[in-house]
Amino acid sequence: MTEPLANAYREFAHNAPLYAELGAGVAGDRELLAWLDGLPQGKRQPNLVFAAYRLVAGTPSGWTEFETTLKDRRDEVEAVMLARRTQTNEAARCALMLPLLAALPQPLALLEVGASAGLCLLPDRYAYDYDDGAHTLGTGPPVVRCRTEGSPPLPTRLPEIAWRAGLDLDPIDVFDEDRIRWLELLIWPGMEHRVETLHHAVAVARQDPPRIVQGDLTTSDLDDLAAEAPSDATLVIFHTAVLFYVPRVGRAIFRTKVRELGATWLACEGPDILGFENDRDDVMALTRDGERVAYADGHGGYLSWG
Ligand SMILES: C[S@@+](CC[C@H](N)C(=O)[O-])C[C@H]1O[C@@H](n2cnc3c(N)ncnc32)[C@H](O)[C@@H]1O
Repeated sequence: MTEPLANAYREFAHNAPLYAELGAGVAGDRELLAWLDGLPQGKRQPNLVFAAYRLVAGTPSGWTEFETTLKDRRDEVEAVMLARRTQTNEAARCALMLPLLAALPQPLALLEVGASAGLCLLPDRYAYDYDDGAHTLGTGPPVVRCRTEGSPPLPTRLPEIAWRAGLDLDPIDVFDEDRIRWLELLIWPGMEHRVETLHHAVAVARQDPPRIVQGDLTTSDLDDLAAEAPSDATLVIFHTAVLFYVPRVGRAIFRTKVRELGATWLACEGPDILGFENDRDDVMALTRDGERVAYADGHGGYLSWG
């Protein structure tokens, strides 16, 4: 029973040394695997355990500290795991969307589904640095850094956004310190630049928070929100790292709705989620109206056009 779970831990976070060490440790610890196996579905994944541990006991120095402390404080860690979910909000993904947004007729009405705290709804309020200073625009912080390949059409102007709103099953209030702290803990150790971007983007959002409505992207919640968009702006419905959480049938309902609403549809998701061949598990596909235009790093670090 515990073998698939052991593999998930063994294969977790190869590019984050501390989490790779903890993952390997859990994979070889029958007692911890048995405990995890007894938790409900969706509550056993490595990032949830490690973030819950860090909330309870801080970031461990390595496997020995983690194992000892987890065995001492397992009830506290489990309570956090049962109460919380993994969630992200990566403002750096705006660097991937920017060329597509800027190429559309302006102004834009931006509707993000799976918006989390809405940090990806603010692409006009960040600074961008593509290719180590080769192409910059906007005012930061945050300064979102992105490497490119294949000459994406990098814009010289930020998009003009006339209206913006988000939809999420579980919206995050940017003023809720506890929820922001949890977002921070879900970022793997060693990726401090992502924590820094999160803090800066939250500070920007707090100046004028985007409106995030609680609702489901597969239902009339989407139609109701889209109906509020001004008709003289280009309606863009977009999402990043969301459809993985939506069952296949829900994804099809969503795509039909977007078509019926006459919106431009931008997506950044795992290639297989969008129906493309996936020979790499570390990239996202970036699509416009269902056509793939690029592959990209899941956290906005690079954009490979074409
Ligand atoms: C991994 S987070 C990504 C957040 C953000 N798009 C980003 O790229 O940083 C996925 C988000 O999708 C939301 N979500 C999942 N299923 C949803 C649904 N059916 N309708 C609306 N939101 C959903 C979750 O609550 C979560 O906030």
